[in-house]
Amino acid sequence: MAEYVVAGVTGHTGSVVAQTLLDSGRKVRVLTRDPHKAERWKKRGAHVGQTDLSSPHDLLNALRGTEAAYFLLPPYPPNTTSVRGKAKKMIDAMVQAIGGTDVKHVVFLSSIGAQHADGTGPVLSLHDAEQELKTLKTPVTFLRACYFMENWAPALPDAKEGLLNTFLPAELKWAQVAAHDIGQTAAHLLLEHPKQHRVVELAGPEDVSPADVARVLSKLLETEVEPLVEPLDQVAEAFTGMGFSPEYAAMYQHLYEAIASGRLRWEHPESVVRGKDTLEQALAAMLAKL
Ligand SMILES: NC(=O)c1ccc[n+]([C@@H]2O[C@H](COP(=O)([O-])OP(=O)(O)OC[C@H]3O[C@@H](n4cnc5c(N)ncnc54)[C@H](OP(=O)(O)O)[C@@H]3O)[C@@H](O)[C@H]2O)c1
Repeated sequence: MAEYVVAGVTGHTGSVVAQTLLDSGRKVRVLTRDPHKAERWKKRGAHVGQTDLSSPHDLLNALRGTEAAYFLLPPYPPNTTSVRGKAKKMIDAMVQAIGGTDVKHVVFLSSIGAQHADGTGPVLSLHDAEQELKTLKTPVTFLRACYFMENWAPALPDAKEGLLNTFLPAELKWAQVAAHDIGQTAAHLLLEHPKQHRVVELAGPEDVSPADVARVLSKLLETEVEPLVEPLDQVAEAFTGMGFSPEYAAMYQHLYEAIASGRLRWEHPESVVRGKDTLEQALAAMLAKL
């Protein structure tokens, strides 16, 4: 039976990809650096491959004899420097391993705005990844997800006290999607057999604003929640305050500016795919974990 490789299985989207494939009776090989963290996947019938995504050797072993693979670039610890260089090392490892095996299809988690070569902060590494992966003969599906609804998770403890911190205007609506939708979409795409590289852009059911998030939280928490808008030019300072390196913090400054200015936009707005998970479902799931 064909086997499917899933990276990032201990994370937001990889866990959903693996579960969706297992639920549909597929054979799955999950990747983690720490096999102890994957015990629950073993119990569900998956094979576990100890794999660091920056190691070409690990990745070659992980891919050998498999049908298709879900890959992503993990975020780095806050104090990381040379962020784009570290991502490049991981991208090179993926390209080398995919090119060295006969895996038939790769779904790579990219981002809205990955078409731009500048001005998008951390999304630039996904731009770099798309450029490198495009050189492969193996068809790659670039799944460009928008802003994860899960990005609101750190704001929830304060929201319980009535204030939703945001750097973006309260009424600005932008595309946001649940990790569950991304994982399910990726799993379905993985089972397809594209003949060439393609881009799939994924949004949630509707664009939402901080005011919308506050309204939904007010309902879920049964208490009044209001957006507290911090100045946009203080993103980098706030991120360094949370332990981010100045370089990484500056990248987040650029990201939030790109959302505010509309630079972080779809390349093919006419063909954006919309997921099903509502903001309310995603926020309720996050609150249940607090
Ligand atoms: N947040 C957003 O709004 C947004 C929007 C669009 C795209 N994206 C992209 O989504 C991706 C993240 O996806 P996600 O949230 O599903 O991932 P995640 O939850 O952060 O999980 C990533 C996993 O990668 C694994 N990993 C393997 N090798 C690693 C290494 N050398 N260093 C660090 N981690 C390693 C880790 O698992 P082990 O510890 O088990 O090894 C980790 O659990 C990023 O590329 C991000 O740019 C994010």
